Amino acid sequence: MSSASVSYSPVDRSSRRPVARRGETSLRRLWPSDGPALRAFFLRLDAETRASRFMASVGDRALADYAERATVMSGMVVGVFVGGTLRALGELRPFGSGASGARRAEVALTVEQGFRRAGLGTMLLRRMTEAARNRGIAELHLRCLPYNAAMRRLVMGFGAQMRLEEGENEGTIRLAQATPLSLWREGIETALDFGLAVTALPQLPLPRAA
Ligand SMILES: CC(C)(COP(=O)(O)OP(=O)(O)OC[C@H]1O[C@@H](n2cnc3c(N)ncnc32)[C@H](O)[C@@H]1OP(=O)(O)O)[C@@H](O)C(=O)NCCC(=O)NCCS
Repeated sequence: MSSASVSYSPVDRSSRRPVARRGETSLRRLWPSDGPALRAFFLRLDAETRASRFMASVGDRALADYAERATVMSGMVVGVFVGGTLRALGELRPFGSGASGARRAEVALTVEQGFRRAGLGTMLLRRMTEAARNRGIAELHLRCLPYNAAMRRLVMGFGAQMRLEEGENEGTIRLAQATPLSLWREGIETALDFGLAVTALPQLPLPRAA
């Protein structure tokens, strides 16, 4: 499946109801101009989803602060919009090199309740593994709670090696080196992302001529 920021038709595998029926589905990188959509997304998350994503209980104020910084912190944030509303989020955060010198990044995923098991998490992770690979990152790390069967299943589909460490599941996905094709593909996607983000900007009134 291509991860370009164009329409998708993900299918809800549990109920076989296409999520796309709720509106056009598109995936793109998020920018600071997406701050309001990010804030609304985080504030809609129920307590269980917040705990699964952050491995702690997180209140509205902390989430609003986090939403404000999310696109300006190092790394990248990718979102899936369904019918124009942000419903799923992927975050890629570089954090230095391991003992072997391999560059590493942490990845986190959040899909809103009601939009799960439709392939959105897989779409995001595919896009982020490609972006990471093209930035010379050799290892993707992720953390989740031990009972998080959904995340474990998702990342194991990407070849993650999982281990239980201090009450958390930690996973590592080893990435292949970038190729001219992967670089080219991401170049196209980035150009499309930027175009879509610009079209999503609110229309500002033009200054009137004197
Ligand atoms: C984990 C999460 C991101 C998965 O997103 P998703 O969009 O539902 O995932 P997908 O639809 O792409 O499914 C990926 C795989 O996981 C499986 N899966 C999804 N939910 C599952 C569940 N509750 N139990 C078992 N397997 C599950 C799917 O069947 C699929 O497997 P397959 O490809 O072999 O069929 C989502 O459940 C979520 O946001 N959870 C809360 C936040 C969180 O836990 N984040 C992880 C820590 S950062």
